[in-house]
Amino acid sequence: MRTQVCIIGGGPSGLLLSQLLHRKGIDTIVLERKTRDYVLGRIRAGILEVGFTDLMREAGVGARMDAEGFKHDGTVIAYGEEEFGVSFHEHTGTDVLVYGQTEVTRDLYDAREAEGGNLVFNVENVGIHDAKGDAPYVTYQVDGSEHRIDCDYVAGCDGFHGVSRQTIPLTVRREYEKLYPFGWLGVLSETPPVHDELIYSWSERGFALCSMRNANLSRYYIQCSLSDSPDDWSDEAFWSELKRRIPSRYADALVTGPSIEKSIAPLRSFVTEPMRWGRLFLCGDAAHIVPPTGAKGLNTAASDIHYLYQGLTQFYQDSDSAGLDAYSEKALARVWKAERFSWTTTNLLHRYPDQSEFDLKMQRADIEFLRSNEAAQKVFAENYVGLPY
Ligand code: APR
Ligand code: PHB
Repeated sequence: MRTQVCIIGGGPSGLLLSQLLHRKGIDTIVLERKTRDYVLGRIRAGILEVGFTDLMREAGVGARMDAEGFKHDGTVIAYGEEEFGVSFHEHTGTDVLVYGQTEVTRDLYDAREAEGGNLVFNVENVGIHDAKGDAPYVTYQVDGSEHRIDCDYVAGCDGFHGVSRQTIPLTVRREYEKLYPFGWLGVLSETPPVHDELIYSWSERGFALCSMRNANLSRYYIQCSLSDSPDDWSDEAFWSELKRRIPSRYADALVTGPSIEKSIAPLRSFVTEPMRWGRLFLCGDAAHIVPPTGAKGLNTAASDIHYLYQGLTQFYQDSDSAGLDAYSEKALARVWKAERFSWTTTNLLHRYPDQSEFDLKMQRADIEFLRSNEAAQKVFAENYVGLPY
């Protein structure tokens, strides 16, 4: 079998790239390890930067997002009983859209299938071959039978645990990582959100986040120990701890209910360089991971996809490889800024086990500076809504 671009990974990155290239007449095949339903069962953040929503509309899959997404023009930062708002619109003239990643992925799957996309599920033993040559190919198995796809380029959109990054030799790859000494315990509940904006809350007991998916589906997180497991936390224990970590006016108004999903995610910052090796390009979580504090995971995958989509289109339409040659440097320049924002917001709002009294004073001073300084709020807002591509 032959295609122009073989895409490994049927998550948001791979699907968005496939849909965008399809609309330019560029042929792709998407290889996904799991099933569509398994992929859609993952609970992920749902804050979309304007760059992402523009790409979705360009891909022809923005209708439901625009109809059902919620525009948020600011957020609340809380600390103890104190709180203040940061207005995205006032500082940047733009907003973010709240629309779950599950719905983004569903819309992309629906579009690919409606437009005859070539999606292969339940693939095993994917191998990338001759990426440094002029005729790369990908092998894989489905139901025990071996398959080969010859292609011009391979897009590694297979996430942190995928095969693509590992295909780049360790003598070429440079990896940068920071592991945080805590995780996030997340709960999804069919309850109305406690507030019409997100609440990022610092408390003596640890970080908490009040988020949402729609008017009757809320998403809450509390910072937890890495030694915790979801089974250690009854719904009642989660709700009472969340109430201790947000201002009482919200705690008193919080509508609790049974969790329909409960999970713990460790926090990690990770970047691999370069994001290209011959005819293999890494995108999204295959190349970088951020702690979820800044809601940058999906949005940084989107800018990778934007740069690779532009480069591939330029190559196939104008026989010009300049965009592809610049991909890794351009993508990484924005990736590192997203890593910085995610790292700084994590440090701003989380309690560290080894924090000294002085460290606490610095943390509170940082929050107070953000509360009281217009320039600081503008910097926060510009990063949150998304830096330019
Ligand atoms: N072969 C084929 N598919 C694979 C392989 C493999 N060897 N390894 C992983 N996959 C699939 C996974 O099953 C997953 O569906 O690749 C997909 C990667 O998707 P994500 O991990 O979601 O990564 P990405 O598409 O880059 O999305 C970025 O989405 O998952 C969220 O928050 C996460 O910020 C991240 C964002
Ligand atoms: C979420 O709604 O899951 C969410 C929102 C904002 C974040 C992280 C997660 O920063």
